Amino acid sequence: MKITYLGHSCFLVTTAKARLIIDPYLTGNPLAAAKADDIHVDYILCSHGHEDHTGDALAIAKRCHAQIVANYEIAEYFGAQGANTLGMNPGGAHVFPFGKVKLTLAHHSSSVNAGLNPIYLGNPCGLLLFADGKTVYHAGDTALFLDMQLIGKYPIDVAMVPIGDNFTMGPEDAAAALDLLKPKLAVPMHYNTWPPIAVDPQEFVEAAAVHDHTVRVLKPGEALEI
Ligand code: NI
Ligand code: MN
Repeated sequence: MKITYLGHSCFLVTTAKARLIIDPYLTGNPLAAAKADDIHVDYILCSHGHEDHTGDALAIAKRCHAQIVANYEIAEYFGAQGANTLGMNPGGAHVFPFGKVKLTLAHHSSSVNAGLNPIYLGNPCGLLLFADGKTVYHAGDTALFLDMQLIGKYPIDVAMVPIGDNFTMGPEDAAAALDLLKPKLAVPMHYNTWPPIAVDPQEFVEAAAVHDHTVRVLKPGEALEI
C-alpha cells in the first residue's frame, strides 16, 4: 500500500485493487501537492463535511466516476448533486472489492456553508481502512477522546492525526492520542495550512518520542510504502 500526502488532511492511498483519496481538498489549499484535475481514483473518503475535507469531492467523483464514501448526510448531500455515494455512520463497516472501511467516532463538527445558514452534514468521523493486510486510521478532525483506546484495539500500521490545534488536537494531545491508538507509525496532518493552525511538527515528534512513538513527518507530495 502506498500512502501519498497531498497536504492538509488529504492523502492518496493506492492499494492492490483500488485508488482512494481521503479528504480531498486541493483547490484553494495553499499546501496542495497536486491539482484536483490530475487525481485519478476509484473511491473518495470524507471524514466530515467541512470544505477543507470535501472541497474537491464532487468534481473528482463526477470526473472519475468514483464513489464518495462518508457519513449518511454527506453521502445524501453529494448524491443529490449527482455523485455515486455510499452513506455510512460511526461504528459501521462496509466491505469493498479493495478491503474494508469502518467509520469511527470523532469529536468535532460537520457542516458546509457555515455562516447564517450552514448545512448540517452529519456527525464527524474518523476512518479505519483495512486493505492489503494493513490497517490505516485517519482521525479526521478531532479532539483527544478516551474512546480512541477502542480504535487502538486494531493493529494500526499508520495513524494520521491532526496536530494543528485551534480546531483539533494540538501536538501534546495528538501525542497523548498515540498512547491510546498505539500505531506502528504516526503521520501528522491538519497543520500549517493557514496561520490559525501554524505548528512546528517537531513539537509533535518530540512529544511522541517521550512515549516511544514513531512519527514520520511527510512533506506534501511525499509518500510512504507500508
Ligand atoms: Ni473540520
Ligand atoms: Mn479541518
